[in-house]
Amino acid sequence: MNNTSSSAATLAVDAADVATVKVGPQTTIPTPQVSARSWLQLNTPMTDWQGRRVWLVGASTGIGLACAQALRAAGAQVVVSARNPQGVQDWAAQDKGVQWRALDVSDGLQVQATARALLAEGPFDMVVYAAGYYRAQRAATMDLNDLLQHDKVNYQGALQVINAVLPSMLAQRKGHISLLSSVAGWRGLPNGLGYGPTKAALTHLAETLYMDLQDQGIGVSVVNPGFVATPLTAQNQFTMPALISPEEAARQMLKGWAQGQFDIHFPKRFTLWLKLFRLLPYRLYFPLVRRFTGL
Ligand SMILES: NC(=O)c1ccc[n+]([C@@H]2O[C@H](COP(=O)([O-])OP(=O)(O)OC[C@H]3O[C@@H](n4cnc5c(N)ncnc54)[C@H](OP(=O)(O)O)[C@@H]3O)[C@@H](O)[C@H]2O)c1
Repeated sequence: MNNTSSSAATLAVDAADVATVKVGPQTTIPTPQVSARSWLQLNTPMTDWQGRRVWLVGASTGIGLACAQALRAAGAQVVVSARNPQGVQDWAAQDKGVQWRALDVSDGLQVQATARALLAEGPFDMVVYAAGYYRAQRAATMDLNDLLQHDKVNYQGALQVINAVLPSMLAQRKGHISLLSSVAGWRGLPNGLGYGPTKAALTHLAETLYMDLQDQGIGVSVVNPGFVATPLTAQNQFTMPALISPEEAARQMLKGWAQGQFDIHFPKRFTLWLKLFRLLPYRLYFPLVRRFTGL
């Protein structure tokens, strides 16, 4: 589907899906034919990464790094940012298609300066926001500084990056912004006092951006992984259900972008159950979560 379509009806309809009905000898009226394919496809599918330029923010480890590696393997030119260069600098030194740019997303001026310098070298086809911070926290031991740290990295950092790259994408009328959110933002969960609300905000932000930008030629997607084995989840003291590798997460993300999905969630054997939980009334949801988590 073309992202520049303007009416609400074109959300699920493209030119190829429009048939015509003969009304009289000369008059024909186009009638939209909504196909199953176009219902899923809310963004322009991205299948050919050859020569595409992608900035991955928060990609020194985990899902972001695996995604940068997968995109590079598919032919993209990747710019990788985070605070610590270990794991990326050697790769960047050996491969001209990989660029390392140190960045702390909680420093707004640094985000602006880095984006400006990178955009001076050329526009981005995609920006992936993968920076994340997680510490388990419960209300009885509330730590305001830690709550605000979650907000700074997970949500405000995304706002800083979007603010820095959006004018260029709007001017070009092209590009795609993909935000790494989490199923932990779908509903309240124990231990999620700091993390969960920032991810709920990020998902809400992606939905709103999508509606504002779909007519401007700019794609928006939100990525909602279940449990992925990364430094972020290494601190978890429990057995994580349906745990997958960062490489599998990256594979699912590329598949989601190739299919033009807005909500890229995986693994389905876990996320589909959580989608169902999302629909439950609180009277059922709260006791069920307590039962499953033991918290
Ligand atoms: N792992 C999971 O199960 C899971 C599930 C759902 C969603 N997610 C989300 O997926 C994203 C990636 O997480 P991950 O699991 O791959 O964890 P990870 O390996 O810890 O990656 C987090 C990344 O964020 C970067 N980062 C943290 N603070 C930063 C800052 N102030 N400025 C710039 N970069 C910063 C880290 O790099 P530096 O420390 O070098 O800065 C690192 O590259 C996060 O948004 C996370 O919330 C993860």
